Amino acid sequence: MSHDFDAGYGTQPWASLVAEYPADAYPPADFRVEWGPIFHRGRLDGTARLLVLGQDPGPHEAFVRRILVGEAGQRAQGLLTRLGIERAYVMLNTYLYSVYGQRAGEQHAADAAIAAYRHRWLDALLSDGHVQAVIAFGHLADTAFRAWRATPAGHAYDGAYEHLTHPTQPDAAARGGTPFAVAMKKMLDNWNAALPRLHAAIGDPDSPRSLVLYGDELTAADHSAIPAADLPAGLPPWMTTLENWASRIGKSAEDKRANLTIVVPADLRPWRQA
Ligand code: URA
Repeated sequence: MSHDFDAGYGTQPWASLVAEYPADAYPPADFRVEWGPIFHRGRLDGTARLLVLGQDPGPHEAFVRRILVGEAGQRAQGLLTRLGIERAYVMLNTYLYSVYGQRAGEQHAADAAIAAYRHRWLDALLSDGHVQAVIAFGHLADTAFRAWRATPAGHAYDGAYEHLTHPTQPDAAARGGTPFAVAMKKMLDNWNAALPRLHAAIGDPDSPRSLVLYGDELTAADHSAIPAADLPAGLPPWMTTLENWASRIGKSAEDKRANLTIVVPADLRPWRQA
């Protein structure tokens, strides 16, 4: 039996990029630097046709060491599935570390050292002309992409670009008092408006298929599992499933920040399976 995995950052320019990440640009008061930087997910071999720019990693990403693997990642992966993109994508985040505190993300949106490093990744991923479309999830990713587009390498990018609502914005809106169903429908309307343009922009998807738009609710079938080929070797299969297996637990803010708890989902415990 053979298992897919992502070989990581052994070739250039990725080896230099991960060696040279700007730790000092991220103040510990505003970023969870204690869990280390998390760089990307997806193809680094020039086969990506779609680039996804997310915001910042969460608890699941801290364990897996790849971005967009938790709920937001599985919703995003479902969007890619609708476009017939099953392998030919690459994902970056606006920030290497998880933001800490409500305003931290906004406060550092224009930081030169953070942007300069992100621009090195975007240069490396977009300058060969293979990527045909970019999706920025959320306004911080949109700001980040627009800043790159104002650079000389960014001027040369002539693919499609869509700024979409972040996949977990409805969850954040619900915490702020907006009914979840209302916020979710708004997000799906936003995604549905962009899908035909993205579908038309990607000339050679992995699995060409007719475009089917989202309904008013996001269902379990609208999520896609993260392919093992995107993840470091040897990860247990339950870490790639749609279940929520990582959370921050603690009685105080200090404890919560210092703890990440992983629980093997009850229905996926190998010792319980025949
Ligand atoms: N949300 C993002 O934008 N990126 C991640 O890596 C995880 C959640």
